[in-house]
Amino acid sequence: MTTIIDGKELAKKIRGNLKIECEELKNKGIKSKLAVIMVGEDPASKVYVRNKSKACENVGIEYEEHLLNDKITQKDLINLIEKLNKDKTVNGILLQSPIPSNLDINEAFRKISPEKDVDGFNPVNVGKLVLNQDTFVSCTPYGIMKMFEEYNIDLAGKNVVILGRSNIVGKPLIHCCLNRNATVTTCHSKTQNIKEISSRADILISAIGKAHFVTEDMVKENAVVIDVGINRLEDGKITGDVDYENVKEKASYITPVPGGVGPMTIAMLMNNVIKATKRQNGMID
Ligand code: GUN
Repeated sequence: MTTIIDGKELAKKIRGNLKIECEELKNKGIKSKLAVIMVGEDPASKVYVRNKSKACENVGIEYEEHLLNDKITQKDLINLIEKLNKDKTVNGILLQSPIPSNLDINEAFRKISPEKDVDGFNPVNVGKLVLNQDTFVSCTPYGIMKMFEEYNIDLAGKNVVILGRSNIVGKPLIHCCLNRNATVTTCHSKTQNIKEISSRADILISAIGKAHFVTEDMVKENAVVIDVGINRLEDGKITGDVDYENVKEKASYITPVPGGVGPMTIAMLMNNVIKATKRQNGMID
């Protein structure tokens, strides 16, 4: 029997708990605010940013948006980040990626104060994750770990295969899984014979952004299959990296797209903003 992992429902539960925490903070006179920076007009980013603002409203987090023209200079971008770092009313800062290629996103992430880096992209926070220290964990990998917890999927000793090595998902995922004692293999565009590797996975996580890349013959019987992909088909429909209908028959657990990992990413962002707020107010270490 296959269990469909309901990310939408779990995300709703998490947001509900965060809403209560947010109200408790307000009763103590503490407000929580997320500042989002978006550069240019990337249509997918616009959708993500809108969803993030809706989630903030839902939880009770204040939301401030900085929409920058794609002609902005690196200096102006860094100046804005530094202004937000100093702004005591701002608890979390998120720079939506991608940004235009003439700008240096790595420098921008480096400039976001680690205390306000709710996306977990500052090298200080990435380093803490690698060392298994408490930090802001990148929201998609963190959301996947929450799904495992909720569905009692233990990673210790399991073969986890990750498809994709992006800085946002694949790389932090490696360490999230390793920190939970999994044996982790990462596949990428230069990997030879992916099928042979993926077929050995107890837990297969795909984050490559190619519709229907993961076919049934790549998946072990009773594997847990997590689909991070969000791909738009020609007919406008959204689909994941996994050939869901066929792989579903073989998997013990599987995440749908939409309604799987996506909503969890945003819920964990909300979680990180509340955590940042509490830290900045000396309520947690
Ligand atoms: N672009 C695509 N996903 C993300 C994300 O989780 N955070 C940011 N900042 N940009 C993204």
